[in-house]
Amino acid sequence: MPEFLSISLSEQPPQTAQALVFYADESGPLGPVGGAIWARTGLDFARIAKATGFSGRPGHMIDIAAPAGLDCERLVVLGRGEDGQAQTEAAWADRGGSLFAKLDGARIRDAAVILDEPGIAPRQVAALAAGATLRSYRFDKYIKRGNGRVHDRLSLTIAAGAPKDIGAELDQALAVATGTILARDLVNEPANLLGPEEMAQVAQGLSEIGVSVEVLTEKEMQKLGMGALLAVGRGSVRPPRLVVMQWNGGKKQQDPVAFVGKGIVFDTGGISIKGAASMENMKGDMAGAAAIIGVMQALASRKAKVNAIGILALAENMPDGNAFRPGDIITAMSGETIEIISTDAEGRLVLADALWYCRERFKPQAMVDIATLTGAILVALGNDYAGVFTNTDSLAAGLQQAGLATGEKVWHLPIGHAYDKLIESRFADIKNQGGRNGGASIAAQFLSHFVGDVPWAHVDIAGTGFGVPSSETNSSWGTGFGVALFDRFVRDNYEG
Ligand code: BES
Ligand code: MN
Ligand code: ZN
Repeated sequence: MPEFLSISLSEQPPQTAQALVFYADESGPLGPVGGAIWARTGLDFARIAKATGFSGRPGHMIDIAAPAGLDCERLVVLGRGEDGQAQTEAAWADRGGSLFAKLDGARIRDAAVILDEPGIAPRQVAALAAGATLRSYRFDKYIKRGNGRVHDRLSLTIAAGAPKDIGAELDQALAVATGTILARDLVNEPANLLGPEEMAQVAQGLSEIGVSVEVLTEKEMQKLGMGALLAVGRGSVRPPRLVVMQWNGGKKQQDPVAFVGKGIVFDTGGISIKGAASMENMKGDMAGAAAIIGVMQALASRKAKVNAIGILALAENMPDGNAFRPGDIITAMSGETIEIISTDAEGRLVLADALWYCRERFKPQAMVDIATLTGAILVALGNDYAGVFTNTDSLAAGLQQAGLATGEKVWHLPIGHAYDKLIESRFADIKNQGGRNGGASIAAQFLSHFVGDVPWAHVDIAGTGFGVPSSETNSSWGTGFGVALFDRFVRDNYEG
């Protein structure tokens, strides 16, 4: 899947690599192999560090061409970061991302990186490889000018001792990175080429790796009474779909853990139409559903020992003669009636039916939804944290931990009965919009009406799913946020 990077493992650094790479701090190489390689050059490390301003901080680099005593063309020394700096997988993934960027920037196409510092764990080596893979991702398939942009591939050999120990961890980490890349591809894809049906087809492709996939059509949703999801899709010529994916890698008697994604392939706001400014970003309003496809792919390809459900609520929110309108009263599958105040508060409507359906059909031990749900979460948390809301605090804690490990961080925000008065309707059981203040909590409180007593959490990724500043592991518009988070959440809480 990753096009611009291939990774292999070896016990010893290959003698033929174009570039040899190792990590150092201000006093020199961190491991014995790096030390021995440096010794062969006969160079004075302290003097070179001083001359190049190398202090061992992340991003610092010494790049020596045609080093005496070595067969390689380049010897690259990278700053490893201050002592005691985070040893989380997220920190190692950042190192890997930075590594790819440095080598790619130096036009190196074949490199061996030596990771022999004492105490380095296989999981950390795997995280570095995943980080490099994520950084290598580009979405440029529609750039045809000048025969397209031609990029060369980087072959990276990781020399970190016994490859047997590391191989299994590497496979798992790359399965997750590949899932993130699939999600990025979907988020980056424009809405004219990716409608509900096309997204459902991508999900169906996962049947090749053992995921069972069902696609519910409009008719079937009508029979089930999904009045909320169907209302949102009515203005589009491309009908909505509900996708159900199942990965059964766990014990028969294990209740599943379920993930539900908002998949609005384009959100114009509908009759409550959005302003023109930046509306093109609303092609990313299916980032939640994309993350669910990505995580199901990751779980299946690493054969996770878990029973997992992935549900996608797919629709397009368009203004039209047949569209739903403000003032309409619709009936959700749960039987609750909803007064529409804004047709732009559509995400909570499609999720209301998807969550209720999930709970009724699967009785999951836990249910987590992910959605680009509110502009308010951007105001509250910016681009660095997603918001998490829950009826069961331990789920928020689990997601928070998974977030720290993977770098896909979440922050726990409140829901509760206090918010219900803001969505009381004069005409129906509930209305779909409260005030402007506290908008992310109001939306989450709305969702809580459709989960019954299932332990549930909601992750609002309107600030993290797309359009974030570039980072060490991502320079793409669509981030794939949620894939690594949910994979890790499963791995630490529901497997085995
Ligand atoms: N998809 C939007 C939320 C969004 C905004 C995602 C910006 C990503 C970036 C959602 O459907 C929406 O329109 N929400 C409204 C809700 C309001 C009408 C209650 C919002 O946040 O303004
Ligand atoms: Mn909207
Ligand atoms: Zn939306």
